[in-house]
Amino acid sequence: MKVLVIGKGGREHSLVWRLHQSETVWKIFCATGNPGIDQIAEAVPIAPTDVAALLEFAKSKSVDLTVVGPDDALPTGIVDQFTSSGLKIFGPTAAAAQLESSKSFAKTIMREAGVPTADFEAFDDAASALRYVKSRKGSMVVKADGLALGKGVVICHNTATALEAITDAMQRRRFGAAGNRVIVEEFLTGEEISFFALCDGEHAVPLGTFQDHKAIFDGDRGPNTGGMGAYSPVPQFGPEQEARVMREVVGPTLAAMNARGIPFRGLLFVGLMIDGDRMNVLEFNVRFGDPECEALMMRLDSDLAENLLAAAEGNVANASIRLSPRSAVAVVLASGGYPGEYKKGIAIHGLDRLEGNVPSDIKIKWAMKKIRVKVFHSGTAMRDGQLVTDGGRVLTVTAMAPELATAVDAAYEAGQMIEFEGRHFRRDIARRALG
Ligand code: AMP
Ligand code: GLY
Repeated sequence: MKVLVIGKGGREHSLVWRLHQSETVWKIFCATGNPGIDQIAEAVPIAPTDVAALLEFAKSKSVDLTVVGPDDALPTGIVDQFTSSGLKIFGPTAAAAQLESSKSFAKTIMREAGVPTADFEAFDDAASALRYVKSRKGSMVVKADGLALGKGVVICHNTATALEAITDAMQRRRFGAAGNRVIVEEFLTGEEISFFALCDGEHAVPLGTFQDHKAIFDGDRGPNTGGMGAYSPVPQFGPEQEARVMREVVGPTLAAMNARGIPFRGLLFVGLMIDGDRMNVLEFNVRFGDPECEALMMRLDSDLAENLLAAAEGNVANASIRLSPRSAVAVVLASGGYPGEYKKGIAIHGLDRLEGNVPSDIKIKWAMKKIRVKVFHSGTAMRDGQLVTDGGRVLTVTAMAPELATAVDAAYEAGQMIEFEGRHFRRDIARRALG
């Protein structure tokens, strides 16, 4: 197969890395790639949202399978256009991608499907939203309907904050059109867990449980980021609970989407809030999470290209999809200042020590403990032969081992070998699971 991967972050590096190991893949293109990806794939200088150019490219190279990484490429209808040109592509259509791009759409589907989720109301005008909020007591959550780079959700512990959040989104138009509609929902407490399912429109296969670490600082303090670390599987969330998510969330959601004539194909990322026996869906995403994907790609034991092709072709029920029972952890090395302003172009040192030059004492230790370590590039660039920082999240250091604690130690040991001015990472990734 010739495969085209769309995107340029750590998620896409891990996808390309796994595809590179696939026996059925002999050529990988990546639009646009990064210095890590470029070592194993041919870089294609086309933006992920330039659908016309990507389609032209895929046709001209007779690409057998295209894999869409980032969320912003999906609502453009890239999957619709590739499919109608007879090309195979992994991901949802623009209509199905509304499960992520419109929170009110997702909530309506959940309500129709009987999927457990926080009670909510949707509003298209500020006056009614403000009136509704004044009529409620206690904590609530105000969400801009559209994609707002993860900044559209405000947890409000009093009415004044909720009124401010609505004014911000609907009157000051802080998120542009994404805030034309707002939803107000019940505030939930508990433990947040993510669940992945590979879907082909009709059937789905579970693809792991994860816990993300969204806040920038240890102890979940500070502003939210795209994700500072993740681990998989989540030990507190066993096979019975996984079966429950498939039964109560994934199955009914696929059925409700089908009933509307917009079958969901691709990766369904279910954000859950778990509180004892209570399980509620916080949100859906329609693509692999980052850095969850990096941890998942370490654990995947089957042929990624065949698995994604099966989803695109409506055939996951017959696909061989296997996850290692080992634990994987991903720790993000970020630029100083992120998620606020940060500098780019800072030299990165020490990565070569992990790529083929691991000191022999560490190498022996890792081998004895069955540890595997891999560093994925997220925001890096090559300037005059020197690897430099080029984004907020710079590198994702990923490790897998039979025990989660061992994987965590190895990821930190490897992370410490990589240096760049201002480097920041959380020191408590997976601590909740380790107790
Ligand atoms: P979302 O983009 O909808 O996942 O929201 C972002 C984050 O806001 C989630 O990861 C939760 O931490 C928090 N959140 C969202 N909805 C709720 C809710 N109903 N109750 C409590 N926290 C929430
Ligand atoms: N790490 C969360 C996400 O990719 O949405």
